[in-house]
Amino acid sequence: MSTIRIPGYRSPGGIRASRIALTVWLVITIAATASWPQMRRPEGLPQSAHAEVDGLALTPPMGWYPWNMFGEEPQNEKLIKEIADALVASGMKDAGYAYVGPDEGICFSRGKDGKLSTNLERYPSGLRGLGDTIHAKGLRYALYTDAGEKTCSTAMPGTKGHEFEDMRSFADWRADYIKIDWCNSQGQDIVQTYALLGKAQRAAGRPVVHSLCSWGDGYPWIWAGAIGHMWRTTADICGPGKADWARALRIAFANEKLAGFAGPGRWNDPDMMIVGMPGLSEAQNRSLFSLWCMMASPLIAGNDLRDMSRPTVDILTNLEAIAVDQDPLGAQSHVVWNDGNISLWAGKPLFDGSQAVLVLYQGKYKADKKIYWEELGLRASDELYVRNLWTHETTGPHAGSVSVAVGPDDVAFLRLSKKNDFPIPPILVADTYLVSLRSKGARPETLTGKVTVTNRGSSDLPQWRIDPKSLPPWLKAAVAGSGKARTFVNTVSTAGLKKGAYYAVVRADNVEPISGKPMSALYYDVDLEVTRNVRR
Ligand code: GLA
Repeated sequence: MSTIRIPGYRSPGGIRASRIALTVWLVITIAATASWPQMRRPEGLPQSAHAEVDGLALTPPMGWYPWNMFGEEPQNEKLIKEIADALVASGMKDAGYAYVGPDEGICFSRGKDGKLSTNLERYPSGLRGLGDTIHAKGLRYALYTDAGEKTCSTAMPGTKGHEFEDMRSFADWRADYIKIDWCNSQGQDIVQTYALLGKAQRAAGRPVVHSLCSWGDGYPWIWAGAIGHMWRTTADICGPGKADWARALRIAFANEKLAGFAGPGRWNDPDMMIVGMPGLSEAQNRSLFSLWCMMASPLIAGNDLRDMSRPTVDILTNLEAIAVDQDPLGAQSHVVWNDGNISLWAGKPLFDGSQAVLVLYQGKYKADKKIYWEELGLRASDELYVRNLWTHETTGPHAGSVSVAVGPDDVAFLRLSKKNDFPIPPILVADTYLVSLRSKGARPETLTGKVTVTNRGSSDLPQWRIDPKSLPPWLKAAVAGSGKARTFVNTVSTAGLKKGAYYAVVRADNVEPISGKPMSALYYDVDLEVTRNVRR
C-alpha cells in the first residue's frame, strides 16, 4: 500500500507522505480498532455524509458551552447572554468562535400536549428570544437535548418518542447546533435512534450542526457522519468546575487513535475544552489547545469567558493555532511515536502544502528535542521554514531536522513549509445572522437588510453564491464588496403580500481559494413582518 486515503484529503503537492510512517500508523490503528464489533457501517443510513447535503461544519465548529465550568447551576438567560457578550468583547468572536447556548440547564419541559416549552423562570425571553439575541450579535445558537427518556440529570425530558415534534421546536427556536446526549437510553438501538433524530431534523427544515454525544458508545466514528457532523469519542473531560489535566491527556491519546475517521464535516469530538479553567497552568492550557487544534477537534470553550486572564485570552484567540484546526483539508493528526515522556504528533497536512507538527512533553524538566524530517514523512534533503505557532517566529530554511526546547506539560507547536509564508485560511465572522424587516402600510415598499461577513484569515475569498431558486418570491439576495468584507444585501418587495409573518433561511456557498474545497455553507435568517395587506 503506498498511500492511506483519509477521506476528503488530497495529498498536497509540496510535501510527500512517507510510506513507512503512514504504514506504521495504519498497523497501529488497525490493531487498536480490531476489537470493535461493528466495523461495518450499519445498513439503511443515507449514502452521503450529512455535511455534503447541508454544507455545515466543513471545518470543526467553534463556540462555547456551559457544562465544564458551570454544570447545571447557574445556567440561565443572564449567564448565556453575559457569556455571549464576553465572547464578542474578548476577541473570541473575531477569532471564529460562534456557537453558544445552554447545555443541560433546565431550559425546557414537556407540556401535556407533548410539546416542549421554555422554562420562563430561567429564560424569561423564551428560548426563541434568546436565539434572536444571539443571532443579532453575529453568533450561532446552540441547544442541548438527549436521545433517551430524560437528560443525564433527569431534570429535562429526552426526545424518545417525541423526535419529530422536538426537532420542530428546536427549529422554531432557531437553533443552529444541537448536542444530543445518550443518557437514560436503556434498550434503545443507538444507530436507529440517532438516525431517526437526523431524519426528524431534516423534516424540521432548519439546517443544524448535529453533535452526537454518546461518549464513544456504539462507535459513532464508523457511522455517524451519515447523520450528523461530530460525535463525542470519550467520557466527559471533567466534572463541572473540576479541570483534570491527567484525564484530558488520556482523552487526547484515545481520540488520536481515531484520526482516520475524521474529515471535513465529520469530526471526532474529544469533548469541550478546559482551557482557562481553575487548576490548569498556562503551559497546560497552551498544550490542550494545541492538541485540540492538531486533532481538528471542535473548539468548544468550557471556561468562564467573563473572567479570563490575558494568557487565556491569548491562547484561545491564537489565530495561527486556530488556522491549523480550521484548515479546509480537515485532516486529524495522529501520534507518530511516544516514549512516555515525549510524543511527536504529525499527519496534519494543511491547505497551502505546509504541515503542522507538535511535540508534547510530559516529563519533569525542560528538554530539547530534535525532530527529523524523515519521521514526518519528508525527505531528509528538504529545506523547510519552521514557524513556531506560539512565539510567532519563523526560522530556516532548515535541512533535515530542527531542534525545539519544551518545558513540562508544554508543547512545541510548529508549521513546516517550503515557502516562507504561512497563510491563514478563511475565518469568517458576521456582524449579524438575523435580518428583521417590517413593512409600514398598504403601499408596496422595497425593504433592505444587510449581513456583512468579514474574513479574518489571510487568504482571499472568492465570491459567494446564492441559488436564487432557494429563495421565496418576496426575497432577493445579492452579494456586494470585494476583499475581506462581503455584504449580503437582502431586498424584499412587499407588493401583493398579505398581512402576516414571513421567514426565510438564506444559504450561501463559497469555495476556499487555495485548496479548492467547498467552505462551510453560510446560513442566516430573514424575518419579514407585513403589518397590513399590501396592494400590487
Ligand atoms: C453528559 C455530557 C456532558 C453534559 C452532561 C449534562 O455527561 O457528556 O457534556 O452535557 O451530560 O448532563
